[in-house]
Amino acid sequence: MVTLLEVLLSFCICCTLVNPYSIGVVDRLIQLVDKAQGFNLLAPENNHDKDFTRGLFAVNEFDRGRDPPFLIEPPGFNYTIENRLGQWILYSHSSFDYEKDPRSYVIRVGFGYGEWKILKLLIQNIDDEPPALVCPDNITMVENLSYDVNNSSAICWLSDPDGFLNQTTFKLTGTYSDNFEMKLPVKYDEFAQTTEAIITKKAFESDGDVYLTIQAKDGAGHSTVPKAKIDVKIKIIKDTK
Ligand SMILES: *[C@@H]1O[C@H](CO)[C@@H](O)[C@H](O)[C@H]1NC(C)=O
Ligand SMILES: *[C@@H]1O[C@H](CO)[C@@H](O)[C@H](O)[C@H]1NC(C)=O
Ligand SMILES: *[C@@H]1O[C@H](CO)[C@@H](O)[C@H](O)[C@H]1NC(C)=O
Ligand SMILES: *[C@@H]1O[C@H](CO)[C@@H](O)[C@H](O)[C@H]1NC(C)=O
Ligand SMILES: *[C@@H]1O[C@H](CO)[C@@H](O)[C@H](O)[C@H]1NC(C)=O
Ligand SMILES: *[C@@H]1O[C@H](CO)[C@@H](O)[C@H](O)[C@H]1NC(C)=O
Repeated sequence: MVTLLEVLLSFCICCTLVNPYSIGVVDRLIQLVDKAQGFNLLAPENNHDKDFTRGLFAVNEFDRGRDPPFLIEPPGFNYTIENRLGQWILYSHSSFDYEKDPRSYVIRVGFGYGEWKILKLLIQNIDDEPPALVCPDNITMVENLSYDVNNSSAICWLSDPDGFLNQTTFKLTGTYSDNFEMKLPVKYDEFAQTTEAIITKKAFESDGDVYLTIQAKDGAGHSTVPKAKIDVKIKIIKDTK
């Protein structure tokens, strides 16, 4: 059955010079898939931003005799297709959570006359989960000594399900906080989800114990959970001088 919409659309296909990368869908580039090309498509996680309306790719034509027009494995992929400026765009309405389910999908696009294109849709890990930071409650340091990453035993643990630990920034506040820094080890696994984070100290004279408040933020600006800031007490051992 030919609908009025399809008549209008075929008119568009004839008359519109289509630039596959300027079809103006939201703010994303949509890849044009045709018989000659294949793609690994990337779908960024959207379990937090709840954007379930991503245009994933566009085709100029497909085998419209088929129902469903695209075969997607594994099943359960929720999508719609829409014609814009003569191109068919597949919109995903599925929720992707890389940490919980880093699956990929295989999408078979039929162009008719037995021609198929196999696409692979990969869920892309983005920095969308907050980090966590745990510090010991029995930190002691000597007043007039410096501690660096190699000899401090004030070792906290930083973790983030997304990884990207090297993008973490730390803000230390409190009395004497200018003398302290939080640093990641000289070497650690860049792809790990957890690492040591070491409190270093300059040599300085203090009146007593130090109370620091540490705020860690990941590369996307998420503060730690369950608390955005953690309080750390450092017992300062007076030197004899
Ligand atoms: C598919 O997505 C649409 C639009 O977001 C939604 O209304 C519908 O409930 C979804 N269906 C399933 C089976 O998830
Ligand atoms: C601090 O306490 C932890 C257990 O809570 C213990 O494993 C560690 O050895 C202690 N460190 C120091 C320097 O006392
Ligand atoms: C740690 O090492 C630095 C330089 O290697 C040194 O100046 C400092 O005294 C050391 N601190 C301790 C507590 O050993
Ligand atoms: C810590 O030791 C490593 C070598 O193991 C060295 O490259 C680095 O400069 C040292 N850091 C400090 C602050 O001394
Ligand atoms: C951070 O780690 C990622 C891998 O997780 C790596 O690709 C990137 O180059 C690293 N960035 C820095 C500044 O070290
Ligand atoms: C601090 O320590 C240095 C040696 O690390 C020493 O020369 C200095 O006298 C000490 N200062 C005080 C006030 O204890």
